Amino acid sequence: MTVSQTNLAWATLLDVSPREHGRRRLHDRLAHALRTAIRDGRLPEGAVVPPSRALAEELGCSRWVVTEAYGQLVAEGYLCARVGSATRVSWSPDTDPPRSRARRAPERTPIRYDLAPGLPDLRAFPRRRWADAVRTVTGSAVHYDLGLPDPAGHAVLRTTVAQYLRRSRGAEAHAESVSVCAGVTDALVRTCRALRAEGFTDLAVEDPGWGRLREAAASARLRVHPVAVDHEGLRVDDLARTPARAVVVGAAHQFPTGTVLSPARRARLVRWAREVDGFVIEDDYDAEFRYDRHPVAVVQGMDPSRVFLLGSVSKTLSPALGLGWLVAPAAMAPVLRAANAVAAAPPVLDQLALATFIDRGWYDAYLRASRRRFRSRRDLLVRTLGAQVPEGRVAGTAAGLHILLHLPDGSDTQAAVHSATTAGLRLADIGDYRAEPSTKRALVLGYGNISDTDIPPAIALLGEALRSAVPRSRLDEGS
Ligand SMILES: Cc1ncc(COP(=O)(O)O)c(C=O)c1O
Repeated sequence: MTVSQTNLAWATLLDVSPREHGRRRLHDRLAHALRTAIRDGRLPEGAVVPPSRALAEELGCSRWVVTEAYGQLVAEGYLCARVGSATRVSWSPDTDPPRSRARRAPERTPIRYDLAPGLPDLRAFPRRRWADAVRTVTGSAVHYDLGLPDPAGHAVLRTTVAQYLRRSRGAEAHAESVSVCAGVTDALVRTCRALRAEGFTDLAVEDPGWGRLREAAASARLRVHPVAVDHEGLRVDDLARTPARAVVVGAAHQFPTGTVLSPARRARLVRWAREVDGFVIEDDYDAEFRYDRHPVAVVQGMDPSRVFLLGSVSKTLSPALGLGWLVAPAAMAPVLRAANAVAAAPPVLDQLALATFIDRGWYDAYLRASRRRFRSRRDLLVRTLGAQVPEGRVAGTAAGLHILLHLPDGSDTQAAVHSATTAGLRLADIGDYRAEPSTKRALVLGYGNISDTDIPPAIALLGEALRSAVPRSRLDEGS
């Protein structure tokens, strides 16, 4: 049974007064009160406990008190916390004692600070306007819209996306060339299936790069060839030495290196596609967030007959919406139609809601506000790193929602990630995204989903985690 967090008076349910608990510290009292409520069944298994901030407000205590208490109960097996979803009661009086369960599968320390890349600011999701858009289209959709969806996506959203990409990304797009997908991953699977149907057997991907892109290509039975990325982006000369005639590229802000594909490489890439009679698949990842200059137009605009353009709202609004797009070269329309026919279309009302959200100017307004927020958060992160982690060198800051922190050769980044995670800080090692091993060491720090106030304590934890992970001599140089 799931108990909503709003139908319980938490302050009444959790009596944390010293009268009840003697002179224990407040977080111990709260942990005790929660434990008791779970044990006697007042908080049943599956019940959602309030977000730490909300409970702290209700109880009139600091958020730290609540996260400590939750962390304690997670460790004991009474609560279960997953990043991105609500914390729930995970035990009932009818099951094994939680301690024995905790021994069998020890729970991790709850994540207090999230610097893992890949998420936008989930707290800032424009709930009211999204709800307005959903309400509007639920009322206005004609009954025909509620029938079988068009596998390429609803014409209204395809038109809206084409206009958006033309005006904001310099793309060459029109409703017929756009397919609505469930995100970039889905768009890539469809593209790879279409390429396979055209006789393509090999696909090049960036190294380092996002592993799911490699998996998506492999799922369409394409052989994957990693190609190195340097400070100008994908090394097109290396690409030309592979048997691949198609390549996936993050031109606007490569993941995870954060490089922007240089003008020379963009031109060289398009030339390569023409020479091999192949295709560039442009993952327009992070493109909306460019801070120090105007956004760079998509490569697709340079030759729409040779470039597929893939994008989604996963990094701008939320990955939970599962909405994205794919703009395909005209010659690929027939094979893409076949690939679309066997893919699952995103729910039509969601598609129409996104169209309304964009058409009313709410998407642009939200992107403008997000860009301002992320720019100042990036500045804060870079400043704090400069002050607290002098042994690191920051890169990839021009755009996007993550930066790279280069560390001296010989640093044990895996150990750093492990000890940071143990201390409640989530972040990523660039090594996790490499297909080929490298001696270069770096951490990938995402700042989309961390609040500004959490950055200084998160970086203090990072500094701690690096203390034993970076070679001693380099630490002394930094100080
Ligand atoms: C490089 C890259 N491209 C695209 C995406 C977005 O994928 P999707 O739209 O399927 O959520 C991600 C998500 O983390 C990513 O890392």
